[in-house]
Amino acid sequence: MSNVEAIARPAPEAEAEDPHVNGMAAYDALVAEAEADYAGYWARLAREFVTWKTPFTRSLDDSNAPFFKWFEDGTLNVSYNCLDRNVERGLGNKVAIVFEADDGQVTRVTYSDLLARTCRLANALKARGVRKGDRVVIYMAMSVEGVVAMQACARIGATHSVVFGGFSAQSLRDRIEGAGAVMVITADEQARGGKHLPLKAIVDDAIALGGCESVKDVIVYRRTGGPIDWQPSRDHWMHEETEGQPEVCEPEWVGAEHPLFLLYTSGSTGKPKGVQHSTGGYLLHAALTTKWTFDLKDDDVFWCTADIGWVTGHTYIAYGPLALGATEVVFEGVPSYPDAGRFWQMIQDHQVSVFYTAPTAIRSLIKLAEGDAAVHPARYDLSSLRILGSVGEPINPAAWEWYHRHVGGGRCPIVDTFWQTETGGHMITPLPGATPLVPGSCTLPFPGIAAAIVDETGNDVPHGQGGILVVKKPWPSMIRTIWGEAERFRSSYFPPELKGYYLAGDGAIRDAETRYFTITGRIDDVLNVSGHRMGTMEIESALVACTDLVAEAAVVGRPDDTTGEAICAFVVLKRARPTGDEAKKIATELRNWVGREIGPIAKPKEIRFGDNLPKTRSGKIMRRLLRSLARDEAITQDTSTLENPAVLAQLAEKN
Ligand code: PRX
Repeated sequence: MSNVEAIARPAPEAEAEDPHVNGMAAYDALVAEAEADYAGYWARLAREFVTWKTPFTRSLDDSNAPFFKWFEDGTLNVSYNCLDRNVERGLGNKVAIVFEADDGQVTRVTYSDLLARTCRLANALKARGVRKGDRVVIYMAMSVEGVVAMQACARIGATHSVVFGGFSAQSLRDRIEGAGAVMVITADEQARGGKHLPLKAIVDDAIALGGCESVKDVIVYRRTGGPIDWQPSRDHWMHEETEGQPEVCEPEWVGAEHPLFLLYTSGSTGKPKGVQHSTGGYLLHAALTTKWTFDLKDDDVFWCTADIGWVTGHTYIAYGPLALGATEVVFEGVPSYPDAGRFWQMIQDHQVSVFYTAPTAIRSLIKLAEGDAAVHPARYDLSSLRILGSVGEPINPAAWEWYHRHVGGGRCPIVDTFWQTETGGHMITPLPGATPLVPGSCTLPFPGIAAAIVDETGNDVPHGQGGILVVKKPWPSMIRTIWGEAERFRSSYFPPELKGYYLAGDGAIRDAETRYFTITGRIDDVLNVSGHRMGTMEIESALVACTDLVAEAAVVGRPDDTTGEAICAFVVLKRARPTGDEAKKIATELRNWVGREIGPIAKPKEIRFGDNLPKTRSGKIMRRLLRSLARDEAITQDTSTLENPAVLAQLAEKN
């Protein structure tokens, strides 16, 4: 069956009244506009979506490729665009954030409140000496205060670097040091799934590990009141810092290229990369994609379930919805607490109309709903929903169908949004009201995004043939550099053989008839576990850092029904290869070790032991073989060049 026949969805126009991009003709017109005058197209949108203090006179500056600049001589402030602008438009009393805590308690924050809270914290940061261009690490759980902290940094021109609250002290330390942060904003603890988990204690540990001398102050939001250690000269309560601060803080007007934030993400080699984003181009794409991809209207209630520690939480919680003056839900907890009906209950309670989540969450909720009718979405009134979104990993057609039918009642288009930390916002995605849907395909490029599929020499491959996903032209919200590593930026994303195209790191294929894209997965050593991005090298480095036990380690991914991919580690110990209970015990020990080194998300699902790893005679680890072993496939590859074929049988054995 061709994809054309598979487009059996009801015309998406039927589901949205007067969509922002109305029908394929409107989509095609936007694409044509961008093709006819690329810089002019983006300049038009940048004037429409962003309020500038000083208007820009130039759109794209590509004179120093790949270090592209957009709207460079314009000045603006992101926090002004997200807060003051809405209050000035008369939305002061509109609810900006509906916050639901882990225990179900709901708090509503209006645009006026959010502006006042942001200004007070911004003034407090200034009082501690934080200046334009300084880096501030934010290590917090989902909270209004987390969003306020990001907005407060933006307000004073400080560059934030949010670190996901699940990362370990070691990972946090690396990111604090990498950014040279002058301040860390954290909370005493986080509440998740009925438990209290430490945050401040991990900040203490991270700083104690050394290398964080740049940090002068730690601001602590009191979330649980749990016991914490305190260094009076360094640590300050957020509520004491903001008390008495004025509710007015003049925004710091910055140039469009000023770094709004850094966000560390995994690559195939080396340590995580500090992806640097701009102010003007980023804000444009955050606002634009939130509006068009979700067809967001003034009376929508938007809910993105991501964490602010990931890029999705930056663009589609902290910035995009607020730039549009929308009402959004921010959720502290987890989808399975107090039971697996939590998401559906919250959609019902808050009348959510646009819901954006990850395939992993959907897959795990499918399993739980199938086992327990009480938490099935059918038990809830989800009629407020209008549009559903998916992000972070491929959504398999079965999960797509379930999401469409049981959550969306067969009415709601699903936007399967492909993008990356580096792209700042959506790159390939359907637009509701325009794009006919095909389950498992992210469909067509966002208007103006020059996505294409090429071979190893940068030449287009024919439709219907798989290849390397690239973006042929710079776009406003693209990564500007890797913080402090310009050369790594150039070589990672703009390899010379690809004609100056941006290399996404994913493989893709386009349907010959529909021209729709399907992402086939990473083409490098990056894994995607539950939508979390991780480098195999990072996990290998963490394992071999256990110098008492581990001699050598190799990590590969294998498909997993729930998490998309699962981490499988092959380990050679410094002692004899363990078997039986001993192997189980050491595997648990190593899993916990990795959890402490990187964070629980990096714990291998499976660890197998061998006397050696399969290597060629020149000593190269044969990862293809390891991938087959991890999948429990019969080895069909040629093993004649293998130095030590006997280890294959050992590594095929599960503990
Ligand atoms: O492999 C692609 C996958 O996630 C990677 C980017 O991960 P990260 O930077 O953490 O950003 C995740 C949130 C945008 C991509 O290189 N990916 C993301 N969205 C999709 C996807 N794979 C398939 N379909 C998607 N919709």
